[in-house]
Amino acid sequence: MKRSLAFIGAGFFAVALVIGAATAMSSKPACAAVEQVSFSEDVMPILRERCVACHQTGGEGYNKSGLDLTSYVGLMKGTKNGPMIIPGDPDMSNLMWLIDWRADPALRMPHNKKKLSSCDRDTIRTWIRQGANNN
Ligand code: HEC
Repeated sequence: MKRSLAFIGAGFFAVALVIGAATAMSSKPACAAVEQVSFSEDVMPILRERCVACHQTGGEGYNKSGLDLTSYVGLMKGTKNGPMIIPGDPDMSNLMWLIDWRADPALRMPHNKKKLSSCDRDTIRTWIRQGANNN
């Protein structure tokens, strides 16, 4: 009797561990599924951290391509050759091709840096799919 109680106790402990691990995983903010993506709260922080150093006035990315990633207006204006984002259509948006590393290796973004996480890329993809709004 005593042994079986200990066994049940161990069982509960294992279940608690599994639930604990699942909770810890789902509370990880980087990959949380966001229903409505916000430009200012979700997309801009990624650009600011990973792109703006080169894509602002005087940066090498801005100098070469004309793409200014410091604001919504700059992002939507695109490069000197035209828009990089087609609202509603991430697959037709050149920006997605570059950050997914589907384009020429020389044009992978961020240039010569680590690839964006799949969570960050999905955030941008969903934002474009939802209309690329200044929200
Ligand atoms: C280390 C500097 C650097 C960083 C960081 C960087 N870029 Fe660039 N980016 C460049 C350079 C340089 C070019 C010009 C490439 C060329 O034309 O040879 C460029 C060009 C581009 C272009 C235009 C490509 C074209 O077809 O003309 C896009 C779009 C772009 N970057 C997006 C991004 C995004 C999005 C990020 C952040 C995830 C980013 N870049 C981060 C340096 C950078």
